[in-house]
Amino acid sequence: MQFRGDIATPALLLDLDAFESNLAAMATHLRDRGKRFRPHGKTHKCPEVARAQIAAGAVGCCAARLAEAEVFADHGIPGLLVTTAVVGSGKLARAVGLAARAPDTVFCVDDQDNARELNAVARAAGVIVHVAIDLYFGRTGVPPGEPALALARVIAALPNLALAGLQSYDGEASHTTPFAARKARTDDSMGRAIATRTLIERDGIPCPMITGGSTGTYRFDADNPGVTELQPGSFIFMDIDYGRIGGADGPEYRDFKNALTVMTTVVSRPPGFAIVDGGYKAFSTDRPFTPRPVNLAGVTYGWAGDEHGRLDLAHAASEVTVGDRIEFIPPHCDPTVNLYDHIHALRGDRVEAVWPIAARGKSQ
Ligand SMILES: Cc1ncc(COP(=O)(O)O)c(C=O)c1O
Repeated sequence: MQFRGDIATPALLLDLDAFESNLAAMATHLRDRGKRFRPHGKTHKCPEVARAQIAAGAVGCCAARLAEAEVFADHGIPGLLVTTAVVGSGKLARAVGLAARAPDTVFCVDDQDNARELNAVARAAGVIVHVAIDLYFGRTGVPPGEPALALARVIAALPNLALAGLQSYDGEASHTTPFAARKARTDDSMGRAIATRTLIERDGIPCPMITGGSTGTYRFDADNPGVTELQPGSFIFMDIDYGRIGGADGPEYRDFKNALTVMTTVVSRPPGFAIVDGGYKAFSTDRPFTPRPVNLAGVTYGWAGDEHGRLDLAHAASEVTVGDRIEFIPPHCDPTVNLYDHIHALRGDRVEAVWPIAARGKSQ
């Protein structure tokens, strides 16, 4: 049996009690409101986590990339939704291959020519491919309204594509603060998606699904009668970034618990500082703040290179010595997870499981 103190560092740790509580909270919230739950696998890239989500009531698993979806399919995860467009002949052939072995997979499209190409590959293979129109809210997608209707008409006329519905993901809405502004932006974006579905269905084209939403917007989306399913990702782990978006009751977002930490070891103790064995290769570096130590008051982390971090001990509440293990909440969970081969799943201090992050690095 392995314990927390036996794990070689830097290492990714999951507090199973917090993870299970987050998962149950989201699953129950959505079930009580009659919404399908298709959590985003880009956060964890881990088939074991996807299996736990399905056991909690999820209908499947989103994937940000085709390669990620292929890994989930290889591990028997059903109900896949590839949330970004698949572009280029090589990838389209793989997408159709995936649709052949996992026929309920849905692929996002936002371009008429891309839809025609996908149809041609599917037709040659004798496969029907389910697609969702990705709507534009600032990154990818086709604008809601008439442009989306034009794409729906193209899809409806293509014999080997079947329109599953619309994807409405507004990434900026997820992190809009404060709470009231987040609600206003989310309801506005979703409102445009729902109006687009009405437009498409009035044209005689069935458009059953509206999928979207996130950890930051789930409350508003779950209360919106037009939304059929939600695809939140980060809620299972949480991170510093999400903690800062604010909740209904104050500046901290407390709907979910921090379940993910990176454990490091103090490897050097120069005067006034402690150097830990986690640097740029151990944490995401895409946010303007640094990892936050857990249970070590008065100490701040500073980047000290690829392999190291520097803890300023000037105001440390306790002594720190070489060999001490220090855990941190990562700034941003998704890109941090992508740095590790395994998640150590802990029950208290006991390692209950070590889960491979099988889709780690699978961005193609
Ligand atoms: C298309 C899509 N859906 C859902 C999510 C999940 O968002 P979150 O991790 O904020 O819950 C993401 C995250 O980037 C996304 O890109």
